[in-house]
Amino acid sequence: MSFDLKTDPSLSKEEKYISLLPQIDALISEEKNFIANLANITSALRYSMDKFLWVGFYLTYPENENELVLGPFQGMVACNRMAFGKGVCGAAAEKRETIIVEDVDKFPGHIVCDALSKSEIVVPVIKENKVRGVLDIDSGVLNNFDNTDKKYLEVLIKNIINIF
Ligand code: SME
Repeated sequence: MSFDLKTDPSLSKEEKYISLLPQIDALISEEKNFIANLANITSALRYSMDKFLWVGFYLTYPENENELVLGPFQGMVACNRMAFGKGVCGAAAEKRETIIVEDVDKFPGHIVCDALSKSEIVVPVIKENKVRGVLDIDSGVLNNFDNTDKKYLEVLIKNIINIF
């Protein structure tokens, strides 16, 4: 398995995503295990993209389809469970849309996991009309996420939806 992290700082955010997405497709095509694939996706994002502090999936399970449970991630220890509607993750899961938070201190109900986190993006994972989970990314820098992240992270989720 080869993976080119594209850590070159001269690359733009868009160039990094454009390089990364096909590599993630290739990576998951080699492995059938769901957890292994999610784990590698979080690592690929965490270590390829600039200023990504915490990258992880929260997943739903049939026992409670309105609760997010911590899945594979890269970063500091995080909260295990969040109800839909709670925190940025729960808000994105409930609204079924990507949420970008420029300043986490200004988001009502933001749940602090890593005090270094300053901004956040959460992309819901929806398959067959059910919320299967969310992809949550925190940055240590204020206002780190924009529509370029939203565009490419939504493409990433679309590309990997079959594994859910
Ligand atoms: N900040 C998130 C909680 C999860 S951690 O950031 C990993 C939220 O408010 O949903």
